Amino acid sequence: MEGLFLSFEGIDGSGKSTQARRLAATLRAEGRDVVLTREPGGSPGAEEIRRLVLEGDPDRWSAETELLLFTAARRDHLERTIRPAIAKGQIVICDRFADSTRIYQGVTRGDLRAKVDALHALIIGEEPRLTFLVDIDPKIGLARAKGRQTAEERFEDMGLEMQARMRSAFLELAKEQAQRFHVIDGGQAEEDVAAAIRATLTSVLDV
Ligand code: TYD
Repeated sequence: MEGLFLSFEGIDGSGKSTQARRLAATLRAEGRDVVLTREPGGSPGAEEIRRLVLEGDPDRWSAETELLLFTAARRDHLERTIRPAIAKGQIVICDRFADSTRIYQGVTRGDLRAKVDALHALIIGEEPRLTFLVDIDPKIGLARAKGRQTAEERFEDMGLEMQARMRSAFLELAKEQAQRFHVIDGGQAEEDVAAAIRATLTSVLDV
């Protein structure tokens, strides 16, 4: 039996991590075998790379170096966590995947999109079957993200204007790859967002 690969995307503070957790819990309660994972990270090696990219000075890495680090982390995650789980018939729910690199490195860190796509084709070459884009007004997203106290502030310090650019870029990407993306209104109550996501899974994949 083949498993299933799903991803969640959205700007910082969109609520996608909460929704990824909720979907995992809902599917488990229904008796399904679920692996909840995240990027950057999701395997021991990739979690080490996560610390390198998310902590420290904002100018620590150039955009190109950062792209290589995210891609290295993704390759390890794919080899050690995602592919084995899918092969076992599990449902993999990933909090961020390659779309985050397309947006964060491709659009907002210099115009790297062509390099992002080339590297993805060369090293990763896989997409989720379905991607939930949790869409939120960046003002709300930023307020939520700022409310969290973590060391991983490099990306969240980018400010409102950057978050707005990323939101537009995510929505544009969702239009480009409409067969895979489902845009969910993240401004609703948490339960309503969760219900919309669960319903989409049934209507699109009959799961
Ligand atoms: P994380 O703490 O997981 O944030 P969130 O809870 O909002 O998902 O940190 C992930 C950060 O890394 C986030 O700001 C987006 C960024 N990122 C990239 O820039 N490129 C990538 O390829 C990925 C996966 C994440």
